[in-house]
Amino acid sequence: MNKSITKAVLPAAGLGTRMFPATVSVAKEMLPYGSKPIIEHIVRDAVESGIEQILIVINKCKEDIISHFKPNEFQENELLKKNKLNELALVRELQNMCQIEFVYQDPLVGLGDAIAMARNFTGNDAFAVLLGDNVLISHTERTILSSMIDVFNQYQKSVVAVQSIDPQEVYRYGIMVGTQLEKRIYQVVEWVEKPEISKAPSNIAVAGQYIFTPEIYDALEKTEAGINGELQITDAMDLIARESTCYSYLIEGERKDLGNYKSYLQANIEYGLKDPKHGSDLKDWLWKKLKEDNLHS
Ligand code: G1P
Repeated sequence: MNKSITKAVLPAAGLGTRMFPATVSVAKEMLPYGSKPIIEHIVRDAVESGIEQILIVINKCKEDIISHFKPNEFQENELLKKNKLNELALVRELQNMCQIEFVYQDPLVGLGDAIAMARNFTGNDAFAVLLGDNVLISHTERTILSSMIDVFNQYQKSVVAVQSIDPQEVYRYGIMVGTQLEKRIYQVVEWVEKPEISKAPSNIAVAGQYIFTPEIYDALEKTEAGINGELQITDAMDLIARESTCYSYLIEGERKDLGNYKSYLQANIEYGLKDPKHGSDLKDWLWKKLKEDNLHS
């Protein structure tokens, strides 16, 4: 396994207002995507990609994320008393997947600021940043992060996962202009955070996973607050693209954006339809529902 990138930062400090009221007291990263909380998918994928240490950036309202990964004596004792040994093994596995640390962002002044908090944790190492509301589903046998690590090993500079999106959706994402070097690899010329549809320079968007060299911290220091008055990681990436070198990797797979309600619902329906145990029943039920709805409309 590739061991050049062993640390990952998971920014999960946002208020999650796009998903209110579901996320008033539950972190949006803790909402279920299928049978697991979103963040557990991300941590498992990271571990499969060779990540050994994770720093999760949270805020005071999001300590349910800590609870998911730390031992709970009461719960473990009760599971033991009730002889629920499979469930006990499952919660213990969560505690031992990799080393997880937490840091609190306060005040909440942007994704760039959240990532800047990882400086001590990452030291001089290049590291991955995995957004807490995006799950990347690989269409190959390896995780998308593993493929990004290959690109990093080849070029030794920051690498950002991107995907082509519907041009009408560009205002939601970081958007790239670049020169294609290989089938899926671009050298980035410019990054723009959430451009207006009419001003977007392309429809190739940040897909929620990044590998950064420590260069990103200096770029963040030189970056001023951007859109929404927040320190934007995309603006710091733009500086690196202009003054140094930044690459992007066109993912071979799909991104599930679980941070807005419509795509959250779509992703969960799709997940359910693929479920080995319930997928087929769910499909029959859905067909029946749709037919009934057609009859009534
Ligand atoms: C963030 C980034 C944006 C990226 C997006 C991916 O935006 O700022 O560049 O494309 O995540 O989901 P947010 O979704 O936090 O508004």
